[in-house]
Amino acid sequence: MSSSRNAAIAAKDLLSIEELSPADIGLILDTAAGFAETQSRSLAEAASKLGGRTLVNMFFENSTRTRTSFEIAAGRLGMRTVNLDVSTSSVHKGETLLDTAKVVEAMGAEFLVIRHAASGAAHLVARNVSCRVINAGDGQHQHPTQALLDALTIRQVFGRIEGLRVAIVGDILHSRVARSNTQLLTRLGATIALIGPRAMVPDAMSALAPNVEVFHDLRSGLESAGGAHVVMCLRLQLERHRTPIFPSAAEYRRTYGLDEKSIGWAHADAIVLHPGPVNRGVELSSGLLDSRRSFVLRQVSNGPLIRAAVLALLGEKRG
Ligand code: CP
Repeated sequence: MSSSRNAAIAAKDLLSIEELSPADIGLILDTAAGFAETQSRSLAEAASKLGGRTLVNMFFENSTRTRTSFEIAAGRLGMRTVNLDVSTSSVHKGETLLDTAKVVEAMGAEFLVIRHAASGAAHLVARNVSCRVINAGDGQHQHPTQALLDALTIRQVFGRIEGLRVAIVGDILHSRVARSNTQLLTRLGATIALIGPRAMVPDAMSALAPNVEVFHDLRSGLESAGGAHVVMCLRLQLERHRTPIFPSAAEYRRTYGLDEKSIGWAHADAIVLHPGPVNRGVELSSGLLDSRRSFVLRQVSNGPLIRAAVLALLGEKRG
């Protein structure tokens, strides 16, 4: 890889942003950027090392973007992908997550990509298998490759991350995306405004990382520190609410929904991000989602680049 020849991220697995140093993060972003070049030599070089290896997607929760982009990324590297169909697997006969992972590894999988509703599921597997494990989202804990592709998108637009103000709006408490992004972006020198109702953004969440502030008023949060350069909207994680914590979607939209008017409270050059899936007209207006300020589809395009970079850098360690 052009900027990372013989380089690798330090850990066996990619489980959380906490394990990545700023140098690791920079290496992943630079490697992904190199893969974006037309007829990328670094991509061809990575494919010569990874071609023919097997990746197994083990998704115990629904996914469109993450699972598909791992499959596309692996394809660009000449790898084989198997998508475990959890709904018809022996999990439904009582086989545990760990035993399922060991079975898949015994068949020759060298990379396991795991999404699971339980926080810590990928960590549990990683401690008990020899192959590489990538966390594709565990409960409300971490979604590291989403944060990495968000950072790549921000860097492409602004040319930097240091010194930017990033507002994350919505159901922060239940969001693995918010957790991973807050840790990653502050590590690279951004400051963060977490915005939402108290039930979704408790004041204690300012301790998530240095340079994080909590706001319960959308306008105050977007205007703070000279105005947010990036506004990241999050979906209400209804599947993780034991009891309803907001009266209705209409009430949420009125108070915290981002639209063509409220984006005016952020920095004049502000862009809008959303990890998806978007509930159009709830957390984000349809008009703003489809506007020039929206980089939501750029985020999606960056998914295979980041995931290919992670596969290449984790695979690099094997002799
Ligand atoms: N952002 C994200 O994780 O999307 P999917 O649930 O579609 O994978």
